[in-house]
Amino acid sequence: MSRKAQFGLAVLVISFALLATRLNEVDVPLARIMAGKNRVDPQQLHLKGEFVESNLGTAQGRDGSITVRLIAEQFLFVPHCVLVPAGVAVHLRITSADVVHKFSVSGLDYEAEATPGAVTEAALNFPRAGDYDVPCREFCGAGHYAMRSQVRAVPREQFRNLRPEERVTCAAR
Ligand code: CUA
Repeated sequence: MSRKAQFGLAVLVISFALLATRLNEVDVPLARIMAGKNRVDPQQLHLKGEFVESNLGTAQGRDGSITVRLIAEQFLFVPHCVLVPAGVAVHLRITSADVVHKFSVSGLDYEAEATPGAVTEAALNFPRAGDYDVPCREFCGAGHYAMRSQVRAVPREQFRNLRPEERVTCAAR
């Protein structure tokens, strides 16, 4: 291959990489924001609204339904350990404070993309009590491969006996 051809190829490869990055970092999130549904301001997450720190983790509604709220950020999920009852429908709401991340659960089929500016919802169920690994599955930067947290599923009766503040997270225990 001639020098000129090599250079041309390199330019082509780089252009494609830039376009793909742009699509993921700009266009995809932008399209979600334009859709209007579940819109959040990634700059304001910790200041106001649904994703303030005191509202993160596991919450039980009056009807008994379980909702887990998470923020993904470089390079962790907050809170770092989530407590849920085993064998119960869990409603996940997740967003990102910076770039695109992907919540996943080892051994289960769940994946939920965390996108800045939007809330992603997913229906989860952790069939057995135990600890589940939660690695990030979208390349999000230098710390991507170390970005993992945990879901701890406890038997339903055990969860029921916890005080509301004990249900929020298992990070401190
Ligand atoms: Cu977050 Cu990869």
